Amino acid sequence: MADNHFVKDVEFIKSAVRPKDYPETEWPEVAVAGRSNVGKSSLINRLVNRKQIARVSNTPGRTQLLNFFLVNKTFVLCDLPGYGFAKVPTKIKRAWGPMVETYLSERPQVRALLLLMDVRRTPGDWEMQLIQWASLHGYTLVPIVTKVDKLSVSKRKPAVAKVARAIGVSSDQVIGWSSVSGQGLEDLWKTINRFVSPVS
Ligand code: GTP
Ligand code: MG
Repeated sequence: MADNHFVKDVEFIKSAVRPKDYPETEWPEVAVAGRSNVGKSSLINRLVNRKQIARVSNTPGRTQLLNFFLVNKTFVLCDLPGYGFAKVPTKIKRAWGPMVETYLSERPQVRALLLLMDVRRTPGDWEMQLIQWASLHGYTLVPIVTKVDKLSVSKRKPAVAKVARAIGVSSDQVIGWSSVSGQGLEDLWKTINRFVSPVS
């Protein structure tokens, strides 16, 4: 993988479902949320320059636990389970809402919630629900439009604008992302660094 000078060090901490199993860390935390298959694990791998630290799958619904990673020994990334894949067993699907809602309400060190949305899909109620949770708990929301490499260059801008409009933000607040080309990497690191730098 190409050099990524933002990353010095990354380690998997643990997986968890219930708050009592969350790692007892005090580092600032950034959560990664989005529908199943939107590219959360791929984004984490690209962000930290590791091919498979977060598991990537062709089988949607693969990440069904909260996965915690320590990056640069300065902040924690949490890969949240994806929402809404039909073939996930009902029991797991029912557990999803409470799992994510509990995490967001019982993890005060969360500084920002990255909300991933597929560039080819119009966000809906589920995204609005997450946006509401983020604002309820006072987390900054970072909208990210994934898989931009799937569209021809001329179609990207209008597609990003459509997603932005659907969630009520302007296009320039949205990061266009591709885990294939690395588009958005620098933007996203700058954004994350703003949230996780110690307040001076
Ligand atoms: P769950 O854990 O199941 O919720 O999925 P996820 O959101 O973690 O998605 P994951 O990263 O596993 O990616 C799902 C599929 O999309 C895989 O086949 C990836 O290779 C593919 N993918 C992810 N990001 C991109 C991207 O930026 N561009 C392209 N072309 N494919 C991508
Ligand atoms: Mg995943």
